Amino acid sequence: MTLLLQPGPCRRSGEKMDSEPLVRITGVAKSYRRGSQLVPVLEDITFAIPSGEFLALMGPSGSGKSTLLNLIAGIDTVDSGSILIGGEEITGLSEQEMAAWRSMNVGFIFQFYNLIPVLTAFENVELPLLLTGLSRRERRSHVDTVLELVGLSDRMDHYPGQLSGGQQQRVAIARAIVTDPAIIVADEPTGDLDRVSAGDILLLLDRLVREFGKTVIMVTHDPRAAEKAHRVIHLEKGLLVTDPGFHDSHH
Ligand SMILES: Nc1ncnc2c1ncn2[C@@H]1O[C@H](COP(=O)(O)OP(=O)(O)OP(=O)(O)O)[C@@H](O)[C@H]1O
Ligand SMILES: [Mg+2]
Repeated sequence: MTLLLQPGPCRRSGEKMDSEPLVRITGVAKSYRRGSQLVPVLEDITFAIPSGEFLALMGPSGSGKSTLLNLIAGIDTVDSGSILIGGEEITGLSEQEMAAWRSMNVGFIFQFYNLIPVLTAFENVELPLLLTGLSRRERRSHVDTVLELVGLSDRMDHYPGQLSGGQQQRVAIARAIVTDPAIIVADEPTGDLDRVSAGDILLLLDRLVREFGKTVIMVTHDPRAAEKAHRVIHLEKGLLVTDPGFHDSHH
């Protein structure tokens, strides 16, 4: 396992946007069953995400943003189509293979933080490392590193209930990156935060991309958050409504 403060595995292609994309989604469709009815949520979604991109996914409520994010993150499975990540077809994996793949490659950030209330900040961040076979000392060093990165070294013994929303989300970011995954998915990470805390979170996501070569895929309703992204993709009723190319300018 690589250390967080080294460039990520996808760093090589982080600067160049013309190489094989990290994520290639082709003709993906997904429906949910509601009673006897099959309700289409995503229809024929095709686009690619280059390594090192900060991508925002926008669209009205119910348009399928979280569904798409969960497919990319390997939490849910497609009905048809293909999702290639780092050249690997993740739609073909068994549930167990998918879980193993996910734990190594994807970090998750949620709107309501999803921290475990009876664990301290330190213990919450350490949790994903308990499955890795790292020694206690190695775990401690990784957790220290990421808590310092999010500016919460002095809060590691606090419980989530003793932290502000913004601080809880920073703990959640530390937890998401402690295993050094190449991809960070964030579902409305600033949706529950005031403007200042939201700004802190966006700054951190931006640093993960710029300094560590991470690829960030962020669902958001907030135009201010989307502004920080390299590119914005819009979903409407299960369809992409914007040019899915890499052509948008990067700031
Ligand atoms: N597990 C599920 N079972 C059945 N229907 C679902 C499931 N998950 C999502 N849906 C349906 O799929 C559609 C898209 O849901 P999704 O959560 O992807 O939307 P969203 O764009 O993230 O919306 P929001 O902005 O409100 O979070 C909705 O109509 C929703 O009811
Ligand atoms: Mg959603």
